[in-house]
Amino acid sequence: MTKKIAILPGDGIGPEITEQAARVLQALKLDIDMTTAPVGGAAYEQHGHPLPDSTLELAKNADAILFGAVGDWKYDSLPRELRPEQAILGLRKALGLFANLRPAILYPQLANASSLKPEIVAGLDILIIRELTGDIYFGQPRGVRELPDGPFKGERQGFDTMHYAESEIRRIAHVGFQAAAKRQGRLCSVDKANVLETSQFWRDIVIDVAREYPEVELSHMYVDNAAMQLVRAPKAFDVIVTGNLFGDILSDEAAMLTGSIGMLPSASLNASNQGLYEPSHGSAPDIAGQNIANPLATILSAAMLLRYSLNLPDEADRVERAVQKVLEQGLRTADIHEEGTRKVGTREMGDAVLQALA
Ligand code: IPM
Ligand code: MN
Repeated sequence: MTKKIAILPGDGIGPEITEQAARVLQALKLDIDMTTAPVGGAAYEQHGHPLPDSTLELAKNADAILFGAVGDWKYDSLPRELRPEQAILGLRKALGLFANLRPAILYPQLANASSLKPEIVAGLDILIIRELTGDIYFGQPRGVRELPDGPFKGERQGFDTMHYAESEIRRIAHVGFQAAAKRQGRLCSVDKANVLETSQFWRDIVIDVAREYPEVELSHMYVDNAAMQLVRAPKAFDVIVTGNLFGDILSDEAAMLTGSIGMLPSASLNASNQGLYEPSHGSAPDIAGQNIANPLATILSAAMLLRYSLNLPDEADRVERAVQKVLEQGLRTADIHEEGTRKVGTREMGDAVLQALA
């Protein structure tokens, strides 16, 4: 049966990088149908909303979504519910995309890109699994209220609510254990159980789920220590599983260890392996439309799409090998360019990957 892929390019460099990834998918000559729809600021301009119903419907009915990036400083003054970022939060929630996989891999050809010493990062290959539809990101109540009593009586107070239901923790823990079992067999659960009730509960449930995975070595770490260990000895990690807020922060940190956020893909999956695939980087409006953005993170996201939502591991391998090959050929976009390599534009990089697929 024809697989349906929704292409949501979004803002900034989103359109030019998704274009290259879509070309790669097209070149594989699979039985897929790709339909494009606006999202983020681009959708706000056209429909007055960052996630119009037509886009949401297309996404819901797709087997997988290839997402570019959303956001632009020019929307900073809009009310929060109309900002581009609401599109991605809305898609995650509406599609139940609770499992966010963010690999941080240092490609040997880019060893100099990291700001850390080579011996600390050489060969780095870790996977951060971030819970994506719970936590303080979506917890209710939230808002600004006037305090009726206490030391700040009469003042306004901003507040959010952090919470996790047992089943939300269980399902992400399973994703973590299963991923670790397929890799080096080590799972580190990150929380703040020394302070937060939510985190202590998280830890208790993860320990319970661990009984089903005797082959996986489970450890626990407080988030502040994890942030430190990630720059001190990142290779000590294999798979990290954590909540939405901590995962947001740690995954940006881990991405920077590789020095090339333009290389890192991500997948956000729901219980039926429907997925949204996007580069780990943002919309970079400052370089939009100049044909200088790195399309490889989006192309690698398309590879994850093939692997997880279309169940085509051979095709996924093929795309990943093609990316390896262009790096070996010395082709580099501006963000990863160094002396002795050949600087190419967004489209030329896409061309090279297409060539290397053969
Ligand atoms: C991310 C982003 C989003 C998040 C923003 C754009 C809402 O930072 O995907 O990590 O905080 O989850
Ligand atoms: Mn983030």
